[in-house]
Amino acid sequence: MDAGPIRPRRLRGTAALRRLVAETALTPADLVLPLFVKEDAREPVPVASMPGVVQHTRDSVRKAAHDAVEAGVGGLLLFGIPAQKDDRGSAADDPDGIIQRTLRDLRTEFGDDTVLIADLCLDEYTSHGHCGVLRETRTGEWIVDNDATLDRYATIAVAQAEAGAHVVAPSGMMDGQVGAIRTALDGAGFSDTAILAYSAKYASALYGPFRDAAECAPAFGDRRGYQQDAANAREALREVALDVAQGADMVMVKPALAYLDIVRAVRNAVDIPVAAYHVSGEYAMVEAAAAQGWIDRRAVILELLTGIRRAGADIVITYWASEAARWLH
Ligand code: PBG
Repeated sequence: MDAGPIRPRRLRGTAALRRLVAETALTPADLVLPLFVKEDAREPVPVASMPGVVQHTRDSVRKAAHDAVEAGVGGLLLFGIPAQKDDRGSAADDPDGIIQRTLRDLRTEFGDDTVLIADLCLDEYTSHGHCGVLRETRTGEWIVDNDATLDRYATIAVAQAEAGAHVVAPSGMMDGQVGAIRTALDGAGFSDTAILAYSAKYASALYGPFRDAAECAPAFGDRRGYQQDAANAREALREVALDVAQGADMVMVKPALAYLDIVRAVRNAVDIPVAAYHVSGEYAMVEAAAAQGWIDRRAVILELLTGIRRAGADIVITYWASEAARWLH
C-alpha cells in the first residue's frame, strides 16, 4: 500500500534536518547545578547513593562552581550542612554559618557572572531533621509549627541575601512562606533579591539519596504533613497561584519525571519562569542502571533532560548540569 503524500519521515532523514525542526532546545544556560557544602569536611566526601556527587569543602565547592560556570551552566543551587544542629536550626541564619560563608566566597569570586541560588529550608540545620520548628500539640504529638517557622525563614532569607544570594529558594512548603520572605527581604533593603518558590513540592520517596547528601532525614515521622500528596494535581496549581500572588518570581515543580503533567499544567497556568528539579532518586536510578551497563548513560541523560524541557520547564535543576552542559557545546 502507498503511504501517501504525507511522509513525516522526510524531516527525519538527516541529522541536519532533525536539528532544523527540533521543537525543544536543551541549552547549558537553562541548567542549574545543586551543590552541597559541609562545614566540617576536610576533603570532599562522596555520597554513596549519588555516584559522582560529593559533599564539598569550602575550597572544593569553589572549584566545582568554576567548572560549572566555565561549562556555561545557568546557576548554582547551594545547600549547607552545618557542623552543629539544634532544634531551631540556628546555623541557617548565622552570618558565619556554612551557607552564608559559601555564598560570600562565591559572590566575591564570580560577582554577577552566575546566579547564586540559596536553598532556604531548615531540615539541614535542625537536630530533628524537619523543615521547620516543632510544637507539641495538646495530644502530645510533635508537629511543624507553620507560623513560627515563617519567622525563621524570614531571617534566613535576609542572611542569605546579605551574604550574596541572587535568589532564595524556599523549599519547606509552609503556608505563606513566599509572602513572609518577600516582606522580610523588602524590609531589609533586598527588594532586588528574587524568590524561586518550590511551589509544587511533593512528599516523594525519590528524595532518599538527597537526605544522605544533606544529612537531613527526619528523626521521626515524615514530611507528609507539609509536602504534597502524589495523587494531587489541582492542589499543585493552587499552591502555585498562592505563591505567585505572594510575589514568587519563579516557581518550581519537584520531582520532575513522575510529575511532568504538573510541569505542563503549571507552565500553562503562569507567565513566570517554571523550574523542574530532577531529584536525587531520579539521578540515582539512572546512575545505577548505567553502572550495570543496562542503559546508554549519556543518551538517557540527554533524553530525560530534553523531556523535562519539552514538558514546559524553562529551567532544569540537575546534578548532571556541568557534564550535560559540556556535551551540549
Ligand atoms: C529540603 C530539600 C529536599 C530536597 C531539596 N530541598 C529534601 C526534602 O524535602 O526532603 C531534595 C532534592 C533531591 O532529592 O535531590 N531542604
